[in-house]
Amino acid sequence: MPRRIAAGNWKMNGTQAALSELASIAAAAGEVSCTTILCPPTTLLQAAVQSSGSLAIGGQNCHHEATGAHTGDVSAQMLADVGAQYVIVGHSERRNSYAESDALVQAKARAVLSAEITPIICIGESIEQRESGETISVISTQLSASLPTEAQIVVAYEPIWAIGTGLVPAIAQITEVHDALRALLVKTYGAQGNEISILYGGSVKASNASEIFAVSNVNGALVGGASLKAVDFAPIMQALSDS
Ligand code: 13P
Repeated sequence: MPRRIAAGNWKMNGTQAALSELASIAAAAGEVSCTTILCPPTTLLQAAVQSSGSLAIGGQNCHHEATGAHTGDVSAQMLADVGAQYVIVGHSERRNSYAESDALVQAKARAVLSAEITPIICIGESIEQRESGETISVISTQLSASLPTEAQIVVAYEPIWAIGTGLVPAIAQITEVHDALRALLVKTYGAQGNEISILYGGSVKASNASEIFAVSNVNGALVGGASLKAVDFAPIMQALSDS
């Protein structure tokens, strides 16, 4: 069975003042049975690791090389060095704002694995692609071109139109996509594909979490806005633990 994972992505939010909130999230993580991950901004990573308890800490992005003349970039090796256990790669905000291609996302996933930590590989369709009936073909193409050779990965399906909008796909739509992703992972990795956690992301809240977690190939969530405060994130972790 894939691990059940509640992951939070703080995006570009949080100064040192937010470390007390992170401590509250870590305390809540100690109360649940699922795997919990928080990805704060890079500036807070090291401090976050120090107060993380059972909460795993992750980065939000990395360069695809380990070292070199890449001003302003951070490598997976550097993230691992300060205690990150995961790195999000291919988030739609990076694919769109920085024109990150599937090939680059794949190179980043490989770099994360080379640093002996786990990539969380994100994929998702735009509203135009959804409305023109291309969702399954778009996400299948994105995922297969972003996958590394090794199966030690986490996948996150985040429809772009559901991120930060309060819109959530119908349960039947989430089911259809997650079933297609599972089939693709099994085709790629054989039986190991059944062990990979597939997270749903996009406007997950305490009020909709249980319904989403009841979908058979949903193994957890990648949460943005509702991961910023323990009062919002803890019930999502709890819902996953209870599911
Ligand atoms: P929201 O939960 O704020 O919609 O963000 C989802 C997301 O992009 C997580 O990576």
